[in-house]
Amino acid sequence: MNKKENFFIQNIVDALEPNFPMELTSQKNRLREAMSLFFSQEDNLSHVFKMIKIINKASTYLKEELGLTEGNIKDMKKAAFFHDLGKVSHPEIYKKPGPLTDEETNLKKLHPVDGFELIKDSNLNNDVKMLVLKHQIDYGDRRGNGNNHFNSSDKRSNSEGRNFPLMLDIFFMIDQIEAMTSSDRPYREKPLSKEFIFQELSGKLPHRKAQVSKMMKFS
Ligand SMILES: [Fe+2]
Ligand SMILES: [Fe+2]
Repeated sequence: MNKKENFFIQNIVDALEPNFPMELTSQKNRLREAMSLFFSQEDNLSHVFKMIKIINKASTYLKEELGLTEGNIKDMKKAAFFHDLGKVSHPEIYKKPGPLTDEETNLKKLHPVDGFELIKDSNLNNDVKMLVLKHQIDYGDRRGNGNNHFNSSDKRSNSEGRNFPLMLDIFFMIDQIEAMTSSDRPYREKPLSKEFIFQELSGKLPHRKAQVSKMMKFS
């Protein structure tokens, strides 16, 4: 990485870094390190920026037709920056062009939990943390972490949490659509076809077929 790129990445980390209680300095440092590593990889930066682009393009639809709030949209954008941070625990898996072993697949499926572990004690709001933890709804519940981490009396609870299930499905679509339409990843040289993406996503979200087809138009 050259000096200019390093400067840019450090500024992203400074601008985004959430706060931690004073006594949790080591957790704060661990997160800083993970963010620097994550954003130093061009395909990670590109994945996040393209997700944000899709959220921006879709924002009128999300608000006016689906009833999400401005706060929900901001939370999705924040979650985009943090959702794949857990991948830094096993970077070699994501550089591998060929098929993964069972063990590698299992480690890959833990990246939402690993990412959540990095931010769970920060001052990011609950919806952002839960989007990170649950963003791979196709992976199921791993390690059972997080479900008991918050309750409705938690002061950090987001008052807009009632929109969470819809927000999570939309966030999942955006993440998957971006990944499947990209051609700059080590494991994919050309984007997948529109029909394939629609079949994949509507199979995973059978109750949201109409939204899947609409969201695909914003990629
Ligand atoms: Fe992910
Ligand atoms: Fe992702």
